Amino acid sequence: MKNSILKITAIFGLTTVLLNSCGGPKDNPPLVYFPDMYFPVAYDPLMKAKDAYSDHENEIPAFVANGGATGLSPVVGSVPQNRDGIVSEETLPKNMDEYNAGYDAAKAVTASPLKAENLEKDLARGKSLYDKTCSACHGTGGDGQGPIVLSGAYSGVPKYADREITIGSIHYVLTNGRNAMGSYAGQLNVGDRWRVALYVYNTFKAPTANATPAAAPATTETTSAAPATEAKTNAK
Ligand code: HEC
Repeated sequence: MKNSILKITAIFGLTTVLLNSCGGPKDNPPLVYFPDMYFPVAYDPLMKAKDAYSDHENEIPAFVANGGATGLSPVVGSVPQNRDGIVSEETLPKNMDEYNAGYDAAKAVTASPLKAENLEKDLARGKSLYDKTCSACHGTGGDGQGPIVLSGAYSGVPKYADREITIGSIHYVLTNGRNAMGSYAGQLNVGDRWRVALYVYNTFKAPTANATPAAAPATTETTSAAPATEAKTNAK
């Protein structure tokens, strides 16, 4: 007798718990304090934003002024991600053979795809980026004697004059790296990689014909002015 009373109480208790846990007040809340959390509103960029729980409240003024469209034009002064419009990024090499083939093909490229009329500006920006990004190892004079090398912490950085490089191969090395030198594709976008390649080639490689050691600021002047040096330019 005592046993069956216990059983009945247990079954009754369990049913109460089960009934309460599902189908409780959560499914049909009498009052919702934060409706966005209960009814998340998903919208497409060009669709009129519409609240699931209200037709008139919470309209965002910027969207209302735009006919309800949620895709707005960029704020004045926004910087485009790729204003050079260069999209010719070849796929990354997957193995050593592909790397070497790409490197050899890049050697044949002797002009950058940047706009010819911007040559002066491109060289100036190339120098600024080079001094900040590369000179710690390669030195501002391109002799491979940057402060990290002089400190003895890092070695094996070549003098550009000793390497057979072209504008295309420099860009390739900046994009994919080479031996102890890593890729700079994460720091410099494609246009800026071409600018640095242009600067390195014009400043440290082309003038070796005159055997003048590169004194950075002076050389930029001479390479752009003197037609005697075979400095390469932007395409077209
Ligand atoms: C951490 C030090 C370091 C930094 C920073 C660095 N490099 Fe290098 N770079 C090296 C080393 C080491 C090598 C030699 C790699 C090799 O064995 O061919 C090299 C080689 C090169 C070469 C010759 C590649 C060839 O084809 O022979 C070029 C060109 C070059 N670097 C350009 C740059 C430019 C431009 C930057 C800045 C964006 C830069 N490097 C930043 C260490 C560095």
